[in-house]
Amino acid sequence: MILDYKNIEDMTRYKIMSDTVIPRPIAWIVTEDNGVINAAPFSYFIPLSSNPATVIVAIGMKDKTTPKDTLANIQKHKKATICFANKDNLEQLKLCATPLSKEQSEVKEYSIEVQKVLEDFPPMISSSQSALFCDYYSTVEIPGKTTPVILEIKKQFIEDNRIDENSHIEVENIGRNGAFFSAMVKI
Ligand SMILES: Cc1cc2nc3c(=O)[nH]c(=O)nc-3n(C[C@H](O)[C@H](O)[C@H](O)COP(=O)(O)O)c2cc1C
Repeated sequence: MILDYKNIEDMTRYKIMSDTVIPRPIAWIVTEDNGVINAAPFSYFIPLSSNPATVIVAIGMKDKTTPKDTLANIQKHKKATICFANKDNLEQLKLCATPLSKEQSEVKEYSIEVQKVLEDFPPMISSSQSALFCDYYSTVEIPGKTTPVILEIKKQFIEDNRIDENSHIEVENIGRNGAFFSAMVKI
């Protein structure tokens, strides 16, 4: 069967793409504005290049005219801390997908522990095994409702026991598998 994308409406296309392009890593992005710490998950997310060290994440709108808080905060402050989720903090990650007003903080509402690791970047989720401290790099212009944002990784947190002498990293990230979540297993 050939699926012709021009004849498929947006929501169906989203479902087809999300169920096919799997597994997708999840960026649990922490940003700040006016002292409010915002945290939200995004799975239209992928690494782009190691030099410059960049990732891309596509962020949508809250409604027709209002960008999601994460996008607004990145556009304003040019900073983001991307955390990774594991099976122990999955429930917290899911809660962070709840739409809240801009003045509300997910980490406060859902009692998620964060820690300020670097002065120049938003805090990281304490239970994450790794986090990427990023500067805004650029935006890719595409028509439609999502804004693909390129972020440059400046620094990374990794738990001490998860990196070996050859710089190999061992993390237990979970990813998006269609409408579900999956843990990565080595084969
Ligand atoms: C696993 C997962 C992945 C998601 N991926 C995206 C995504 O790639 N882009 C997007 O705009 N929203 C995505 N969402 C929805 C946002 O997390 C949700 O809209 C959130 O409320 C945005 O929060 P904010 O307004 O604080 O930025 C995802 C939700 C979940 C649970």
